[in-house]
Amino acid sequence: MRKTGAVPATLITRIGELVTNEDGFRAIENAALVIEDGKVAWTGPSSRAPAADSLVDAARRTVLPGFVDSHTHLVFGGERSAEFAARMAGRPYAAGGILTTVKATRAASDAALRANLRRLANEMLSQGTTTFECKSGYGLTVTDEERGLALAAEVTPEVTYLGAHVVPPEFAADAHGYVALVCGPMLKACALHARWIDVFCEDGAFGADEAAAILAAGRAAGLGARIHANQLGPGPGVQVAAQAGAVAVDHCTYLTAADVDAIVSTAMVATLLPGAEFSTRHPYPDARRLLAAGATVALATDCNPGSSFTSSMAFCVALAVREMRMTTEEAVWSATAGGARALCRDDIGRLAPGTRADLILLDAPSHAYLAYRPGVPLIAAIWRGGELVRGSALRARH
Ligand code: NIG
Ligand code: FE
Repeated sequence: MRKTGAVPATLITRIGELVTNEDGFRAIENAALVIEDGKVAWTGPSSRAPAADSLVDAARRTVLPGFVDSHTHLVFGGERSAEFAARMAGRPYAAGGILTTVKATRAASDAALRANLRRLANEMLSQGTTTFECKSGYGLTVTDEERGLALAAEVTPEVTYLGAHVVPPEFAADAHGYVALVCGPMLKACALHARWIDVFCEDGAFGADEAAAILAAGRAAGLGARIHANQLGPGPGVQVAAQAGAVAVDHCTYLTAADVDAIVSTAMVATLLPGAEFSTRHPYPDARRLLAAGATVALATDCNPGSSFTSSMAFCVALAVREMRMTTEEAVWSATAGGARALCRDDIGRLAPGTRADLILLDAPSHAYLAYRPGVPLIAAIWRGGELVRGSALRARH
């Protein structure tokens, strides 16, 4: 592995636990990993590690794939801490709060939106998220949605058009007209900037027929489909997603047996967003029921100013373990490989020869510490695309 090329190979050795995620959660003890040209070149036991240009001693700590956060809403203006405080004092959460953020987002300059977005993207990276999806959905005019997507595309390739977040006030008397806009001129302007289309299918947002029409229009324009479904109560969202050929169905808080069947039989990824239940005081989704049925489960933050203003995947892992009874292995898999599945990505979420070298060095002897030590910053270093982006090249030598 010693190279003469411009990019030197790095060997991370003496890894106490290396989470590789090959075929479900897998970890190698006393492991090593080689990074070369931005990719993982080799993984295996430390004793058999090849030579490299530089050496990092993991000192028996844990290495795992960077988190893949497959559901965020980071393009927004303003904040809603007063709404959160009122909710904690007893007021229920409703979809309508989104409009407060729509107003602030429309009023914000490009520079202000960009600064907020970059601050959050940076905050996520510092916490080990090396890939994230980002939605529009707080603009809700052709120009504001297009602007939100163009900004999102500056920070991630996983961009989602969510013109169908709620019906904006100027269309309050003409929801039909708004759906036509979302499926017509707005989609035309937005499709170029996005990889995915999403719709909030819920009481107070969009119904089954509307959501189906929106996802079909998006797919016809070349976008992959994902959905916000069954978040605030039972509803048709999961079935709509199944029929639309959606890749992922997100929230899944209120599911019927038929919904679970639809998720399993279509192999859609069920993305659970426990930060939203934490912050809205809804019950947590029943992860055990989905896992027992054989569903693929992802965990994501849903980072947004209303229902879940956390950017921490580690916090979501801790909630999943403590509140949703996922094992530490399941939760870490869902926050890495599960997120990758939800984005149809094979190059991230696992560590094997050929995958992107997106990885976290945890200042802990096992992945379980992510839930065992909730709220504690445990990340010692982060590599993204093979580049050390946080932490120092610990005990590196040439
Ligand atoms: O995923 N559910 C719809 N959208 C967000 C909430 C957005 C907001 O309240 O501003 C969510 O929870
Ligand atoms: Fe969301």
